[in-house]
Amino acid sequence: MRIPKSLKICGIITAVVIVTLIVTVLVLWLAVLKPKNPKITLQQVTLEHISLGSDFQINVTLGMLLTVKNPNHASFRYENTTAFVSYRGSPVAEAPIQEDTIPARGSRDISTDLFVDADSLVANAGFGEDVAARRLNFTSSTTLHGRAEVLNLFKMTATTYTTCVISVYIDTQNATSVCNSKFKY
Ligand SMILES: *[C@@H]1O[C@H](CO)[C@@H](O)[C@H](O)[C@H]1NC(C)=O
Ligand SMILES: *[C@@H]1O[C@H](CO)[C@@H](O)[C@H](O)[C@H]1NC(C)=O
Ligand SMILES: *[C@@H]1O[C@H](CO)[C@@H](O)[C@H](O)[C@H]1NC(C)=O
Ligand SMILES: *[C@@H]1O[C@H](CO)[C@@H](O)[C@H](O)[C@H]1NC(C)=O
Repeated sequence: MRIPKSLKICGIITAVVIVTLIVTVLVLWLAVLKPKNPKITLQQVTLEHISLGSDFQINVTLGMLLTVKNPNHASFRYENTTAFVSYRGSPVAEAPIQEDTIPARGSRDISTDLFVDADSLVANAGFGEDVAARRLNFTSSTTLHGRAEVLNLFKMTATTYTTCVISVYIDTQNATSVCNSKFKY
């Protein structure tokens, strides 16, 4: 039996359209499910407490609020980690951040209090200068190791590094922060 030419063309076009549709759906599906980096932002740094005696007794407590946003269509699990704070290059405080799982497309607030070690602070050569300027700069760094899984198909491990410069104002008893995040697969 001879197939008419027009029918042949029609068949080819139909096949091309079907293949194109399948590819499009596949590409979209992969784009939706593709693992994306979790986003970490430091919402705020509050000065919980600062007292400064005439004999250079100082007690600084920083309250830190981090938000981890999970853009994935899969849960994101991160491991126990530690937030570190340094003052002019010397470590002065650290606080544990407990492991947790963030649901798909969800977010988690992590708040932690950091008690600054007064002795290291006062021992620092630049401390007198900063007290005179009524401002203390701290640097915080947090590394988060995590894992996202999509339908057991894609497994992504991501590491994010967040560093912040925190300026604490002695007179007004408040603080400001500027943060930077970097990701690594
Ligand atoms: C520092 O201040 C906090 C909060 O008021 C207090 O709990 C802590 O005991 C103080 N630490 C020192 C060494 O004074
Ligand atoms: C994470 O920390 C919690 C409490 O601090 C502890 O119970 C848990 O075993 C730790 N997990 C790992 C994998 O170390
Ligand atoms: C402290 O940080 C501020 C910006 O937040 C900057 O302008 C200032 O130079 C810094 N001071 C020191 C001593 O690093
Ligand atoms: C600190 O607090 C004072 C009032 O208590 C406010 O006027 C000032 O803008 C605050 N500074 C910063 C850097 O948040």
